[in-house]
Amino acid sequence: MAAILNDQEVAEKVLQHIESKTTDTGDSIWREPVQNYISKSRFDTEINQVLRGNPNPFCPSAALPDAGSYIAREAAGTPIVVVRGNDLKVRAFRNACRHRGAQVATGTGCAKAFRCNYHGWTYRLDGSLQHIPHEQGFPELDKEQHGLVPVAAEEKSGLIFVSQDSNASFADLEEIPALLNSKQQIFNIDEYELDVNWKVFLESFLEGYHIKPAHKETFFPFGFDNLNLVETFGRNSRITFPFQRIAKLADIVPSKRRVDGLLTYVYQLFPNVMIAVLSHHTTMVILEPLAVDKTRVITYSLTNGVLEGEEAFAKARNDAEFVSNQGNAEDIALAKSIQASIHSGANEVFTFGLYEKLIGHFHQSLTDLLEGVNVVELK
Ligand code: FES
Ligand SMILES: [Fe+2]
Repeated sequence: MAAILNDQEVAEKVLQHIESKTTDTGDSIWREPVQNYISKSRFDTEINQVLRGNPNPFCPSAALPDAGSYIAREAAGTPIVVVRGNDLKVRAFRNACRHRGAQVATGTGCAKAFRCNYHGWTYRLDGSLQHIPHEQGFPELDKEQHGLVPVAAEEKSGLIFVSQDSNASFADLEEIPALLNSKQQIFNIDEYELDVNWKVFLESFLEGYHIKPAHKETFFPFGFDNLNLVETFGRNSRITFPFQRIAKLADIVPSKRRVDGLLTYVYQLFPNVMIAVLSHHTTMVILEPLAVDKTRVITYSLTNGVLEGEEAFAKARNDAEFVSNQGNAEDIALAKSIQASIHSGANEVFTFGLYEKLIGHFHQSLTDLLEGVNVVELK
């Protein structure tokens, strides 16, 4: 596996592209059948085999800072609760009481135990069943066998990964570099729903060919027209969006070049998560597919490091607002535009060109995983 470039290598390559007016390209175009964006059975198969079957990033480690910190949320349609235990290890469980299935946690918070709201069955942070009110009503019930049902979870690269398939291998996570760290502070969590297929929105993150026409007044004035680096690592990828101000690095010896504030890195963690490292903040964007034409978008905004003082936070917040209210709004409008015409019959396939290499890589990875898999209907 080829590792991704370091910052100096990135700077050098970007400067070469600026000089020669070129960009990174793929070797071949990719044609994706439009049917794959509108078929209910294809959607169900993606959820079942890919999103549930492989380790998926669930949240930043920083979202679970303390013993008892938890997040309850659906992941690939399954209610999951992820919690940091008293031993500081992160565990994940199916969020369903072992009595009659009510969810034992909602939203986020910090808890000493999970107490079901219905009849009060109480679970320890390690999932074991601690207490049944009026326990004599359940003669012979084996409490050991009625803990919360665990799902596999692992903390790596500043992220929590969850896999709903207990046989899934976490080995591929070795390919993922350290993306987030515990010094970063979460300053905003946002959640909204879009009436678009999750892949339609995902694709907007993976290429820079659209920057000039789609982001003419927002991102383009700071950036370039179709000038990006694209790299893959395993099924994942990274795209680099340089700012024009990176050109000043040409006057600095290569070993002294620092790229902070001079470019944006967008990492795609296969299949449904993006981590964008911007000038003054970092975002983690999770696409939770709800239906073939509906997606929940969850965004964590983090500082890039430890920020001192309100001024530094205001800068991070302003930056985040600019990206989400302006640039991101343009991508959302385009995703909705695609979704609105997806049944028009105009296209049997979408053609992704040489500048859209990472989208081809994403679809190739998805296709490979689904090859030989029978189409399923979700239960
Ligand atoms: S459903 Fe949870 S205690 Fe009854
Ligand atoms: Fe965009």
